Amino acid sequence: MSSPPPIPKSHEVFSSTLFAGKVLFCTGGRSGICYKITETMMRHGADSVIIGRDAKGLEDSARRLEESTGRKCLAVSADVRDVKQLQDAVEKCKERFGRIDHVVCGAAGNFLAPISSLSANAFKTVIDIDLLGTYNTIKATLPLIRSSRGSYIHISATLHYRGLPYQAHVSAAKAGVDALSGVVAVEEGPRGVRSNVIAPGPIGGTVGMDRLTPKGHKPENDVPLGRMGDGEDIANAALFLFSPAASWITGTVLPVDGGENHMRSFVLPYPQSLLDPESAKGLIKARL
Ligand SMILES: NC(=O)c1ccc[n+]([C@@H]2O[C@H](COP(=O)([O-])OP(=O)(O)OC[C@H]3O[C@@H](n4cnc5c(N)ncnc54)[C@H](OP(=O)(O)O)[C@@H]3O)[C@@H](O)[C@H]2O)c1
Repeated sequence: MSSPPPIPKSHEVFSSTLFAGKVLFCTGGRSGICYKITETMMRHGADSVIIGRDAKGLEDSARRLEESTGRKCLAVSADVRDVKQLQDAVEKCKERFGRIDHVVCGAAGNFLAPISSLSANAFKTVIDIDLLGTYNTIKATLPLIRSSRGSYIHISATLHYRGLPYQAHVSAAKAGVDALSGVVAVEEGPRGVRSNVIAPGPIGGTVGMDRLTPKGHKPENDVPLGRMGDGEDIANAALFLFSPAASWITGTVLPVDGGENHMRSFVLPYPQSLLDPESAKGLIKARL
């Protein structure tokens, strides 16, 4: 029996001036999910600053964002592992726009490796980008976020809700991100600052999903709502959480995944792929 079609999407739910006069500071905004969040915030009136290491790529993305939305976008090259570089980026944002209202902590790295062949250095690299990078971004932006009584969204994941093989580094980092967001919510809530997490499920068209999906595997088959997500699904959740409609929501983790985290799927043959990693080679593009 063929499956019924997925529930139709809605595109223009929010007012196009919802974020007029507001400024978004987005790490990871050069590409993928965080590019889409930035573009969507700009379509709804915000100006933005995008942060990453690839200076040329950032300039290209900022130009495209300005052309497609008519708003202003400042590209600032910085490594989230270095709090000083982020503080300099915040200064540039202050000079250009005078404020920050909303922050997306989205910069991240990922690859596949079982703990047995994951070096301490490789583990630390992901912790440094995903978790320390989130902490550094919060530290650098907090003075301006306090001034604007603004809000944070941290981009996490759902993979640490279960023991997902090959993802010890990312699971540990994202669990830390979720915990950090809760502390920010409690410490800064009395100053009017909100902090929430969006946990995306499998998002089609991203480099990560392309690299990490085994050949022939259909991720949509693991999703109760019958399709992979896209950047717009995550961006719509961000619009809501940043908007005044969410003014009593803080410290929450919002999975945006079509219900996928309730499934217990591991895309490679289990346990054969762990007992005999050679058998899994050739199934995915990423190196094990
Ligand atoms: N794709 C998915 O299906 C999926 C699922 C669950 C969660 N997520 C999460 O969603 C977020 C976005 O994922 P994506 O797939 O859209 O990723 P992506 O396109 O690979 O984007 C990652 C971004 O992070 C930036 N970045 C990486 N290391 C950095 C560093 N040290 N300093 C500053 N910027 C750095 C990169 O810019 P530069 O290269 O210019 O530095 C890039 O723009 C991530 O937090 C990811 O964990 C994704």
